[in-house]
Amino acid sequence: MKLSEETHKHIDEVISRYPQKRSASLPLLHIVQEEQGHISDEAIEWIAEKLQLQPINILELVTFYPMFRRKPIGRRHLRVCRTLSCALNGAYKVCDSLQKEFKCGLNEVSPDGDVTIEFVECLASCGSGPVALLDDELIENIDETKTREIVGRVRNGQN
Ligand code: FES
Repeated sequence: MKLSEETHKHIDEVISRYPQKRSASLPLLHIVQEEQGHISDEAIEWIAEKLQLQPINILELVTFYPMFRRKPIGRRHLRVCRTLSCALNGAYKVCDSLQKEFKCGLNEVSPDGDVTIEFVECLASCGSGPVALLDDELIENIDETKTREIVGRVRNGQN
């Protein structure tokens, strides 16, 4: 499978930490998703072979844990918290505005490939909701102005 040389090394190092190879299943899924953006059928087969397991052993983890994605995502990943505090402070409105701006539904890639928007549960910043993660950056107190800023940053390719 196509992974960078560094990732291959990292994977071998992670596997060596465990007395039983199968214990490295979840870490390997995270590493592969980090590089490829999602977990493809090819990745499932490759990880299974690497850990001397059957593909079904890996597939059941991917389908059980919601943090693993089976489909590619956009260049940027926007995760909007929808848990109570954020919901009461307008998270659904923020999410609607973002979907309209990028012309895409939840969990889809926008037509320009720029972004995938998802709802997630509590991001542990309940006092400053609504909050969202733009890739790994937490953005708090999202109002209309901040929504426009997020849209601008994603469209301009800014971090
Ligand atoms: S409810 Fe949104 S961060 Fe906790």
